[in-house]
Amino acid sequence: MIMIESAIIEEKLDVHAIRQQFPILNREIKGKPLVYFDNAATSQKPQVVIDALVEYYSGYNANIHRGIHTLAEEATAAFEATRDTVREFINAAAREEIIFTRGTTEGINLVAYTWGRQNVKAGDEVIISEMEHHSNIVPWQILCNEKSAILKVVPVNADGDLNMEEYARLLGPKTKLVSIVHVSNAMGTVNPVKQIIELAHRQNAIVVIDGAQSSVHLDIDVQEMDCDFFAFSSHKVYGPTGVGVLYGKKHLLEAMPVFQGGGEMIKDVSFEKTTYADLPYKFEAGTPNIADTIAFKAALDFVSQTGKQRVRDHENELLRYATAELKKIPGLRIIGEAKEKISVISFVIEKVHPQDIGILLDNRGIAVRTGHHCAQTLMTCYGIPGTVRASFAMYNTHEEVDQLLTGLDKAIKMLL
Ligand SMILES: Cc1ncc(COP(=O)(O)O)c(C=O)c1O
Repeated sequence: MIMIESAIIEEKLDVHAIRQQFPILNREIKGKPLVYFDNAATSQKPQVVIDALVEYYSGYNANIHRGIHTLAEEATAAFEATRDTVREFINAAAREEIIFTRGTTEGINLVAYTWGRQNVKAGDEVIISEMEHHSNIVPWQILCNEKSAILKVVPVNADGDLNMEEYARLLGPKTKLVSIVHVSNAMGTVNPVKQIIELAHRQNAIVVIDGAQSSVHLDIDVQEMDCDFFAFSSHKVYGPTGVGVLYGKKHLLEAMPVFQGGGEMIKDVSFEKTTYADLPYKFEAGTPNIADTIAFKAALDFVSQTGKQRVRDHENELLRYATAELKKIPGLRIIGEAKEKISVISFVIEKVHPQDIGILLDNRGIAVRTGHHCAQTLMTCYGIPGTVRASFAMYNTHEEVDQLLTGLDKAIKMLL
């Protein structure tokens, strides 16, 4: 039995079987089968996730936590079961450390508005990097402006790697917080987060990791990583939109002021004084996104059962193949060839605007993303307005990469 199980685990990913679980992949776009290469923006949803939504609304829709009737109890149990699954998915030490949010953006803002406002003072320093998504730039900019603190930026080298010497140089006794992306959405660079965290901790700075892109591809162990906060979004992990997670170390979350006030986050309310609920509810004001949080569990179970390592092997093979073939196209330059990168390939083509490529590819049913990918500062660093970005998921195939290559060839001939 054990032997059979291990044999199954070692098998290559059955992409055909995987594809059958994603109903949207049967769609045609402009008469052509959909080729979906916009997975870094959001991934498609498997049937189990869609079913979980339908089952909740048709079977046990109720508000959670305070109800004593059966529906409320069922909904509460399903909602809280997601918290346990998330804890396991990222190996947090306790379920109280899992705060449900609307997504990565809200998670980062939560830290900026609570820990940040409590701990960052005039003259203190916050470090981010040149490859951050806007949601890991703007909240820190707002905080630093408000507190007269200083925002410092780690540069990125020509290959798309973080300049770690410069990072070490920027760190100092005034550094209060470092917030860095685990995997770049614009280039696929995998940052050395363990080293980043260790260096920051030596200065007693806390570290926020933006896990929006990493959580779907990499094995996440927040205890091993030793990050103080880790934020990610369900919709990039094959789950629904509108729900995400902020992981935080318990002692930090306990010491932080509340984020939003309202129902759910209180113990006792009088006009004179309010006492707040224990973790994690202290940070979950109001009725949460119950349905999507419940369906998020189905997505995480689906990813775990499929096996992250097998998916990674498959996506890495697609990335290797696409990179080698794209490099043969005259005038094409890949943006971001970091030593460690996954699942994202960004490129520009001489004398051709990325948007024109995107439109012509869409005419062939191929969905790529074009533009600055919410990383305008990175584009500015490379002196480009934007890129064409193809990002891979478990259901993509070599044949689809071939279709992208053919589509590009035709587009370039038409545009030049
Ligand atoms: C690296 C990175 N950080 C943050 C975000 C923001 O995620 P969300 O829009 O789900 O809050 C994204 C989304 O594209 C991202 O790729």
